[in-house]
Amino acid sequence: MLHHFLESRLQAAVKAVLPDADVGSVLVRPCPDPKFGDYQSNALMALAKARGLNPRNVAGDVARKLDAADLCDRVEVAGPGFLNFHLRRTAVAHTLQAAARGEHLFFTPAAPPRTIVVDFSSPNVAKPMHVGHIRSTILGDCLARVLRLLGHRVITDNHLGDWGTQFGKLIVGWKHHLDPAALERDPVAEMERLYRLVNHASETDPAVLEAARQELVKLQRGDADNLAIWRRMLELSQHQFDAIYARLGVRFDHTLGESFYNPRLHDVVAELIARGIARESDGAQVVFFDDDPELKAHPAIIQKSDGAANYATTDLATLAYRLETWRPDEIIYVTDGRQQLHFKQMFATFRKWHPEARVTLAHVWFGSILGEDGKPFKTRAGDTIKLADLLDEAEERALRIVSMKSPELPETERREIARMVGLGAVKYQDLLPNRQSDYVFNWDKMLALSGNTAPYLQYAFTRIRSIFRKLAETGEAWDARAAAAHLRPAVPAELALARHLLNFGHTLETVAAEYRPNYLCNYLYELAGRFTDFYEACPVLKETGATRAGRLALCDLTARVLQTGLHALGIETPERM
Ligand code: ARG
Repeated sequence: MLHHFLESRLQAAVKAVLPDADVGSVLVRPCPDPKFGDYQSNALMALAKARGLNPRNVAGDVARKLDAADLCDRVEVAGPGFLNFHLRRTAVAHTLQAAARGEHLFFTPAAPPRTIVVDFSSPNVAKPMHVGHIRSTILGDCLARVLRLLGHRVITDNHLGDWGTQFGKLIVGWKHHLDPAALERDPVAEMERLYRLVNHASETDPAVLEAARQELVKLQRGDADNLAIWRRMLELSQHQFDAIYARLGVRFDHTLGESFYNPRLHDVVAELIARGIARESDGAQVVFFDDDPELKAHPAIIQKSDGAANYATTDLATLAYRLETWRPDEIIYVTDGRQQLHFKQMFATFRKWHPEARVTLAHVWFGSILGEDGKPFKTRAGDTIKLADLLDEAEERALRIVSMKSPELPETERREIARMVGLGAVKYQDLLPNRQSDYVFNWDKMLALSGNTAPYLQYAFTRIRSIFRKLAETGEAWDARAAAAHLRPAVPAELALARHLLNFGHTLETVAAEYRPNYLCNYLYELAGRFTDFYEACPVLKETGATRAGRLALCDLTARVLQTGLHALGIETPERM
């Protein structure tokens, strides 16, 4: 938030020096290296260059016009024309004091808030949710949480794959091979078995393939029996998905699957043809992107030669529906990297169709989860790993660790802690790497209590809470508001921690702007590290008077930021471990 104050002061100074400049791009960010200062702006170099001026001179002129003496004790021109800001200790103290009084937590609500649709998870019906869906679910949920925390109006929508050619085979299986007892026990496993059975048979027996085709056509024409079977499959799958979402703490405002858009597909195709955006090619309706060097060689089919619509048609209808219904400023789609071409084509088609639309469309894609062998993560037998089994194992492994560390805690409490730690570890391991790279799934690494892991951060949080438990044991009352006035970081370890707290808001904003939760992970990891340094260098409970109160307030703020940050990642925080 201090970076926003500095930003507006800096923008005013730039306006004074370069009256014609667009100051919207004049931004201030934390210094990558604290050696050079607390905040930095590199915006003046581009402004100077565009005007043929010497960047260092422009930076110097702006620095002289800058009215920020209450915030900074030094503003320097550095390198080719950077401005480095050194905060006054009083400015740091005032911001921390306001936070301790509960006025903010180092971020300000987005003004104005934007309406943002997040399309994520979106598993396919009659198939188990596997680890491939885990990244979309965890990443999408985290982005939704961060955006909500920043005050945006977020709408989450689960675009279920609940329509498509797989239902022909599934219905053949359901009608001829269903094992009702197995369906009762584990519905999704039974549906998966049916699909595999028929799929396998259809590879060698053309009659089976033909039967599946006919069942599909009947379903598409609205045959009552087939629709009833399809609905039942949908319902059974939804149960399984809901159980996983409840476990992961993921919530959807809407679950509008692909089938929801069926009645709209015809009009989408007709309109694209009528507007000359799609044209016939080999019997199919196709959108060509001749003016786009990247997509020129990749025309998009929006209606197959047999007249059927496809994934792209459905996504176009979905986009139109979302715009009409929610009028979003932005729509974020979270899927794996293999769908990049699909989204490029879909966005480009949409821009031709609605050139006036101002909505931002973002495909937030991610890489794969690999096994230790560097190949896609599978069970030993080579099957895809089911998400539910994986979460069970995470909790079991975490229970062993918690039981070793804290055998004195009652079992129910150890289980509850293990649940938070196990799920937290899985989520954090997924959010920490750059989302576009593949990562290797590693139980020991993700569950380690040291290093950049969820358990380490959860543990750091519990350590701070234990300080306050000890305080309570002495019978002393803790009043955060009263202690706020004593928050005056002075020694280096206090100052380093305090300055890092100030950057929480900037971190959240960057996560939202670049759709990268890994920034928040690394921010929290560094916060925990600076807290450890502080706690080693500065006695807290052993201190007395104002120093003690101020340090306790610093501990409390650290705990609050850790907790809010972990919750934004979708990770719960136990009180003890
Ligand atoms: N169901 C799709 C899949 O599992 C993902 C859907 C993503 N969202 C979208 N609007 N296309 O591959």
